[in-house]
Amino acid sequence: MQKIKDSELRYRRLFEAAQDGILILDAETGMIEDVNPFLIKMLGYSREEFLQKRLWEVGAFKDVESSKDAFEALQVNEYIRYEDLPLKTKDGRLIQVEFVSNVYLVENEKVIQCNIRDITERWQAENALLESEEKFRKLVEHLPTVIYKNAVGDSSSTVYVSPQIETLLGYTAEEWVADPKLWSKTIHPLDRQRVLEKTFAADQSHEPFSMEYRMIAQDGRLIWVQDQIVLVNNLKGQPQFWQGIMLDITHRKLAEERIQRQLEHLTALGAIDRVIASNFDLRLSLSEILTHVLAELKVDAADILILNPNLQTLEYGADSGFRTHLVRKAEVRLGEGYAGRVALNRQLVQIKNLDEDLDHSLLTTVLKDESFVSYFGIPLITKGQVKGVLEVFNRSPLEPDEEWLDFFTALAGQASIALENVMLFESQQRSNQELALAYDATIEGWSRALDLRDRETEGHSQRVTRMTVQLARKFRLSEAELIQVRWGALLHDIGKMGVPDNILLKPAPLTEEEWVVMKQHPKFAYELLSPVRYLRLALDIPYCHHEKWDGSGYPQGLAGKEIPLTARIFAVVDVQDALCSDRPYRPAWSEEKIRKYIRDSSGTHFDPQVVDAFLKMTELNEN
Ligand code: C2E
Ligand code: SIN
Ligand code: SIN
Ligand code: FE
Ligand code: FE
Repeated sequence: MQKIKDSELRYRRLFEAAQDGILILDAETGMIEDVNPFLIKMLGYSREEFLQKRLWEVGAFKDVESSKDAFEALQVNEYIRYEDLPLKTKDGRLIQVEFVSNVYLVENEKVIQCNIRDITERWQAENALLESEEKFRKLVEHLPTVIYKNAVGDSSSTVYVSPQIETLLGYTAEEWVADPKLWSKTIHPLDRQRVLEKTFAADQSHEPFSMEYRMIAQDGRLIWVQDQIVLVNNLKGQPQFWQGIMLDITHRKLAEERIQRQLEHLTALGAIDRVIASNFDLRLSLSEILTHVLAELKVDAADILILNPNLQTLEYGADSGFRTHLVRKAEVRLGEGYAGRVALNRQLVQIKNLDEDLDHSLLTTVLKDESFVSYFGIPLITKGQVKGVLEVFNRSPLEPDEEWLDFFTALAGQASIALENVMLFESQQRSNQELALAYDATIEGWSRALDLRDRETEGHSQRVTRMTVQLARKFRLSEAELIQVRWGALLHDIGKMGVPDNILLKPAPLTEEEWVVMKQHPKFAYELLSPVRYLRLALDIPYCHHEKWDGSGYPQGLAGKEIPLTARIFAVVDVQDALCSDRPYRPAWSEEKIRKYIRDSSGTHFDPQVVDAFLKMTELNEN
């Protein structure tokens, strides 16, 4: 009995001192028989609030859904354990407990002992860990990036890859990890070598690196990735693994490429503009355009056909990229063939597969050796009129996007402008000719007025002009040069406008001072005429007609071939005509005397070749 008492006492002491909460229940009724001080402190309820109550009648357990079930379970089971049960303390705090109960027989009575341990701290710590793990896992798996871990020494063998790899490339994380070659197989063939070399180098150097490259997804999509990888060391500084992220940068890359292309297109358009604006050579402008057509539109060949509005045919304008020159003989009637239809209907014609197209008779004869597959033709229209057709040909199928078609249209616009410009220039040439005719009449009138001042020389300018042009033809001058000769001769003595009447009309030889003024007249002519743009080339005669072959003439004292040919020609004609007219200072010379004078002055005053030609010509004129 004492033994029992002793053990009861020992038990009591343990019960009182235990650092776990303990409840003793009557197994029959479920009533709480005893509660230890630790539990009272843990839950904040008084001893009275526990005693003679059922478990679920105690505030702390009221909200525990399972407590009634737990009690029933307790009655049938000898042992029960809840790893974590949430209890509410009297002051409303939630604590997490481990609940363990056992059934004992005490003096033949069944007693349930519940041990209740506060595990809140441990639970919170664990939970925090789980929570943060979960948080990071969620983060990793929802990042728009692929996170991966590769082994050191073989950076292509993947230990972990986040599931987004499937979104990115269509392979599951499991497939990715299972096949160490999958990564390198997925890299775009054009980038593979560069990427593998860089990876290999990094594996040796342990340097972190970042690179951009293309991959081919399982379904064939092209994906641009940015791959950044860094070596992670353990606490001792030894390499543990490579940690990498792979970012989908396809969108940015495509945008960049597009911007780059647009820039190239703009640059091309600018280059074409400059060529068109700076020259009136249609072939050159069209060739420049075709160079850009081939480079920017990435087609194999292109040509420009120009509409001949009279014949209603398209004729060759320029070509680039053809194997033969047959296209240069092209003559397409409006409405015939692709080009003819483009021009007639003023509409883009696109043939994506020439083999399947029936209407290609011209193409088969003219272009059969070119093995073209695709064709695009676009009309060149300015001011509402079709001026020609721009055609592009490709030896493989073309699948143009909107951007391509936009640029094709822009280049066609440029070609139209080039055609328009040249046509404008040609019509300007025409109006230049009209202008020239107006000039000619003005100059003739002017020349007549000049002769009237030099009274006795009436008709002189007309005569010398006619004869100078006639003589100049013997020297094979072009029509354009002859018109300048004509104007120069008509105006040869215009400088005499600067010579006062008392000198010009003096019926006697000139004094030395008077000669100084008289010899100014070629210079006056130069000053008068040089500002007139259309007369600039006609200046040689007024300025140089008093130069002499032996260098003794004026105003510059030029000799031999330094004197412009037209002035050398003119001088002979001028002296001949002066001598056969009366002058205030002397009467006209005889025909014979003049011819002798001219012959004698050959090689001194005159160019011997001009003298010969002149004498020959005037002899024929006479006979
Ligand atoms: P112009 O009367 O039209 O004569 C043009 C050129 O024909 C002269 O250039 C000269 O090379 C030649 N020529 C004209 N008359 C004679 C002549 O009687 N003998 C010879 N050997 N050659 C003659 P040049 O000499 O430089 O004279 C330029 C212009 O000066 C002449 O144009 C005329 O307007 C004027 N001039 C020349 N000599 C006299 C003169 O004695 N009295 C006056 N009043 N004017 C003169
Ligand atoms: C032709 O078919 O007339 C020559 C090729 C072309 O249209 O450019
Ligand atoms: C063309 O005009 O470009 C080719 C004509 C054709 O073969 O139909
Ligand atoms: Fe003169
Ligand atoms: Fe003269």
